[in-house]
Amino acid sequence: MERRKALKWSLIGGGGGVGALVFGGGGTVAYLYNEAKVDTVGKVDFDSPLAVPPLAESEQDSSGARVFTLEAQSGETEFRSGAATRTWGLNGSYLGPTIRAKRGEEVAFAIGNGLDEETSIHWHGMHLPAVMDGGPHQAVSPGETWTPQWTVNQPAATLWYHPHPHGRTAEHVYRGLAGMFIVDDDESESLNLPGEYGVDDVPLIVQDRKFDDGNQFDDSGAFLSSQGVLGDHILVNGTIGPYFEVGTRLVRLRLLNGSNSRLYNFGFSDDRPFHLIATDGGLLPEAHETERIELSPGERAEIVVAFEPGETVELRSYPAEEGYVFGLGRFNGADDRFDVVQFRAAGSLTDETEIPASMGTAPDLEGADVAEERSFKLSGTSINGEKMAMDRIDFGVREGSVEVWEVSNNDGYLHNFHVHDVQYQVLSVDDETPPPHLRGWKDTVRLIPQRKYRLAMRFSDYTDPNLPYMYHCHLLTHEDQGMMGQFVVLGEGEEIGTVPRTSSAHDHS
Ligand code: C2O
Ligand code: CU
Ligand code: CU
Repeated sequence: MERRKALKWSLIGGGGGVGALVFGGGGTVAYLYNEAKVDTVGKVDFDSPLAVPPLAESEQDSSGARVFTLEAQSGETEFRSGAATRTWGLNGSYLGPTIRAKRGEEVAFAIGNGLDEETSIHWHGMHLPAVMDGGPHQAVSPGETWTPQWTVNQPAATLWYHPHPHGRTAEHVYRGLAGMFIVDDDESESLNLPGEYGVDDVPLIVQDRKFDDGNQFDDSGAFLSSQGVLGDHILVNGTIGPYFEVGTRLVRLRLLNGSNSRLYNFGFSDDRPFHLIATDGGLLPEAHETERIELSPGERAEIVVAFEPGETVELRSYPAEEGYVFGLGRFNGADDRFDVVQFRAAGSLTDETEIPASMGTAPDLEGADVAEERSFKLSGTSINGEKMAMDRIDFGVREGSVEVWEVSNNDGYLHNFHVHDVQYQVLSVDDETPPPHLRGWKDTVRLIPQRKYRLAMRFSDYTDPNLPYMYHCHLLTHEDQGMMGQFVVLGEGEEIGTVPRTSSAHDHS
């Protein structure tokens, strides 16, 4: 460790850097290049049963809303032998319960902040009023309770929640504040897909972490990386080295990349094909068979995989297939490989579910009347050369209208693009039909450098001239450093207003 630090400084001090790494030779460079690669395949003892986050309990209030109570708190978690790790969680020491609600239901929350600093809880992927969104303008002070409420009105999907405090999102998520939010609807409930939570319908919140010598989370950025922290341990639902006992032939996995900055390229150890059945915003019209699914931070995918009785197979993350500038990818995790979860199939497996021939509805915004086209160029830690400012609303969109946003990554690093409030359709990538895994509803999409992503989205229902929604890169250090902007949804005749000077949340119950 000491040796690595010394080498790093001598390299930088010697005017090295990227050029020297790519074009120079020398033992130091080769050493660092080799050291930068993480490969845990075959090295993980799968000796802990996979933790499955409990389903959050709720109570019906007098108005008929289902009320969930979540308390952000600090605690300690034993991830591995040695000292316990100081962590944050919701209703526990690490992560939070899975929230489950059905389309049409009114949900309400009491979000308590038992930490000693401001935080917030954002509902990633959810269509809801800006004041309920839980972004940086809905900060919850220590000791306060925030009580958002809305009617769930979107197709069945795997969403998630996480803090979004201004400039501090990376740290809050890294410490452990996050959870899954599953939306059901009549259609999803009528399908014969695997659907028993924790049995054949399993959430997998995948996060990478680094531990220091005292077993505490280390969030220091990786050498020569612009991405922030890249961990060398994979936690799934907070479990290191997890195994899962399979009792059914088909299992549905709800994959969430809950990491700060790492890209995963998921596949199985024997390269078996599986079916992608849902993207960020919900079920695909029909399943897509593949051997790999790539997820950048914040993205989700539901997959269905088939098992044979008695077998053991691992879910892995493989090196990225494209999109890194030569040499730099190594320092940004592109060449890393991980063993993620081991699946152990029982000697006999029940077989009662199937992948239906038709499932969700396809995005339908191609050919819609486009009210406005906008362009977003991501580079460094800015969008169109500007950094996030809490009091600057970048633009307003009209309620009910469809817009097309052309988004590109103009540097060579890993970025993605997330929009609050809506699910969008990827119309094209470099003017071509998007690859199958980008054809469903999305709220976060990886931007391969120098490609043009055209995203179509409709802004409906909720207007507020003063309180903005966010769009940003979901690499959390980039977001915190300013790669984010704000827009408002305007009703007829409304003009862009002013962000309330103190827009912190109050207990408005
Ligand atoms: Cu998942 Cu603005 O966030
Ligand atoms: Cu979001
Ligand atoms: Cu970025």
